Amino acid sequence: MGENSVYEKIINRRSIRKYLQKSVPRDVLLRCVDAARLSPSGVNFQPLRYVIVDDKQLLKRVFGTLSWAVYLPDYYPSEDEMPQAYIVLLLDKNGRTPIHDAGIASMSISMVAYDEGLGSCIMASVDREKLRRILDVPESLAVELVVALGYPAENPAIDAVKDGDTKYWLDDDGVLHVPKWDLKDMVQWNKYKKD
Ligand SMILES: Cc1cc2nc3c(=O)[nH]c(=O)nc-3n(C[C@H](O)[C@H](O)[C@H](O)COP(=O)(O)O)c2cc1C
Repeated sequence: MGENSVYEKIINRRSIRKYLQKSVPRDVLLRCVDAARLSPSGVNFQPLRYVIVDDKQLLKRVFGTLSWAVYLPDYYPSEDEMPQAYIVLLLDKNGRTPIHDAGIASMSISMVAYDEGLGSCIMASVDREKLRRILDVPESLAVELVVALGYPAENPAIDAVKDGDTKYWLDDDGVLHVPKWDLKDMVQWNKYKKD
């Protein structure tokens, strides 16, 4: 399997919380939403709508609605590491499988972004009512997820989970380490075997 395979890209993508201060071309942002648009959706309801934010003033206001890195309260973008765009996922809750659809769409956005050299962070810790007011979102749509985007200014590493602890952590050089369970601990063939 080549280094350009979907598998390689999925395993190498990490959530990025620090960004270069270089704007993201609009055609790239639109391609991210286009991929989300064409992603699978239960009964093909397509319950999602998208707001792309790249206006400098609005970027600051959207930032104020987000909570970063719950395990590391001080680990969030500084003034000169701010996301350069957001894609806000809005959801019609009448959809048949709305939460699943939103998860899939956010991953499509993240993977196209990664393929374009961008970093991203899918964010569910959002002050949804505040964001609704900032973006004039109608009551008929729920503010579901926000994907923060920008060219990466960090390069997180993955580690093995030790003693069942999945909290990500920072090493002495400020590199973020993200523990991941081993494949053999997560998968079984045919039937679930009790420990
Ligand atoms: C549905 C979802 C919601 C998330 N919400 C947040 C969030 O609000 N803030 C944040 O900093 N990271 C958030 N993350 C990023 C996770 O912390 C991150 O995916 C996890 O630590 C694993 O790291 P990785 O994405 O680099 O593999 C979220 C991820 C997902 C999938």
